[in-house]
Amino acid sequence: MEITGTRVLITGASRGLGRDLALGFATAGADVALVARNADALAELAGLTGGRAYPCDLADRAAVRGLLARVEADGPVDILVNNAADEGIGRFTELSADTLEFMVRLNALAPAELTRQALPGMLRRGRGHVVHVSSFAGIVVPPMLATYASTKAFLSHHAVNLQFELKDTPVGVTRVELGEIAGTDMMAHGRTEPALAGMFERMYRLRLNRQLNSAEITAAVLDAVRENRWSVRLPRRLSPASLLADVPRRMTWLLARGLTTPPAAEPRSTSLYR
Ligand SMILES: NC(=O)c1ccc[n+]([C@@H]2O[C@H](COP(=O)([O-])OP(=O)(O)OC[C@H]3O[C@@H](n4cnc5c(N)ncnc54)[C@H](OP(=O)(O)O)[C@@H]3O)[C@@H](O)[C@H]2O)c1
Repeated sequence: MEITGTRVLITGASRGLGRDLALGFATAGADVALVARNADALAELAGLTGGRAYPCDLADRAAVRGLLARVEADGPVDILVNNAADEGIGRFTELSADTLEFMVRLNALAPAELTRQALPGMLRRGRGHVVHVSSFAGIVVPPMLATYASTKAFLSHHAVNLQFELKDTPVGVTRVELGEIAGTDMMAHGRTEPALAGMFERMYRLRLNRQLNSAEITAAVLDAVRENRWSVRLPRRLSPASLLADVPRRMTWLLARGLTTPPAAEPRSTSLYR
């Protein structure tokens, strides 16, 4: 879809990749709705982009339940970019119950719930796009990241299922699977864990991986939205892992029958499945 003139909700916009995505969408002519916890950083970015800040803790159930209505009080959301996440590095056996719940809420439940809230309006208006920012961690088995990797597997798989469900509608879904991004806080935390840092170093030595920068990811995401592409996989040399994980998914696409276009007037209707 054409980005100029759209309204884009971006989660995790206060820093890292999300901040860069917000600047990229704003430069492309979108009105950006900025979500994260750090209200000062969002206000500063809103000033730079002409967008609006909606401070929100995405691990807070009640806050997430009301978020889309809060944002759409200022205008409908055409593009939803689910980018916020926390990596929670460490052994699963040492994870507290609170941290486990925080990560699943933030990384998996919030993007699914925001998508659930946004899709009916997009379908009714006949245009929309959802971007799930996932990771190659959701395909491979990175050390000390069991919960993070599992939530990213959820996001990637959720995106493909939505693509199938929405394939005959004007609403697109893009799954973004990324390797290590240079310079973000998440990457800095990852580097403090020797087993994880060692895995990356070995991958770089074998030229299986390279570090990404936020600008190239932003450019690829904007292109994917414009051209309604299903996937952004960066760096490209990691793509075979993602393509292999897609084999059973695509096979079921070929085998499945009977999923019809959701009626625009009743997007929540269970008649989706006939
Ligand atoms: N960095 C990498 O190497 C890498 C690799 C593959 C994929 N990715 C994916 O790329 C995306 C961006 O990563 P990044 O490196 O830019 O991460 P980052 O620098 O750690 O930024 C995370 C963003 O999420 C927000 N956030 C965290 N907890 C939140 C909460 N409870 N409620 C609302 N917002 C919250 C943060 O804002 P506040 O703290 O202000 O709330 C921040 O804006 C993530 O989905 C990540 O999984 C990253």
